Amino acid sequence: MTRLWLTALLLISTGCGNADPCAGTRDLSQSPAGLALTQQEHGVGWGQQECFQCHQIWKIHQQDCTSGVSIDVASINDQIDVEDASTCATCHGDNGVPGLLPADTGGTL
Ligand code: HEC
Ligand code: HEC
Repeated sequence: MTRLWLTALLLISTGCGNADPCAGTRDLSQSPAGLALTQQEHGVGWGQQECFQCHQIWKIHQQDCTSGVSIDVASINDQIDVEDASTCATCHGDNGVPGLLPADTGGTL
């Protein structure tokens, strides 16, 4: 019986090949501040700069889940430095972290 449950669980969690790759990803074009994160929508992630404590590097910017505009997600990954959250801030805002957005400190983008 236990083995049956495990098999069922495995099938559910791995999907059947045609699962929607955007499931669980919000369409950021429908978000109040666009790409920039807001406290309301980011919940536990707000005010944090260790983005990859929660997000998985290999999962971000893999598919275009934004309706109405066509996004070259591969080029985004070419522009970011996963060790440096300020490279996220140019698009996703400062996430409530003072100084994360280069412009906040008077720097130029
Ligand atoms: C403590 C965990 C945590 C940290 C740290 C974190 N996030 Fe998040 N982030 C989340 C969660 C959970 C969601 C989904 C929020 C929801 O749907 O309610 C999310 C959603 C997002 C989204 C919107 C995508 C979507 O599906 O809604 C973006 C963009 C994002 N995070 C970027 C970042 C960036 C950039 C950083 C670092 C500056 C960061 N996150 C740090 C937990 C985190
Ligand atoms: C050049 C702009 C740009 C930069 C820089 C950028 N992002 Fe994104 N990000 C986007 C766009 C556009 C989307 C929406 C992609 C979609 O779903 O179509 C997105 C989506 C996301 C999502 C939601 C899941 C997904 O992949 O759709 C997360 C999480 C995220 N970004 C994290 C980060 C983190 C962490 C960094 C920095 C290491 C970063 N982003 C840097 C533009 C950017």
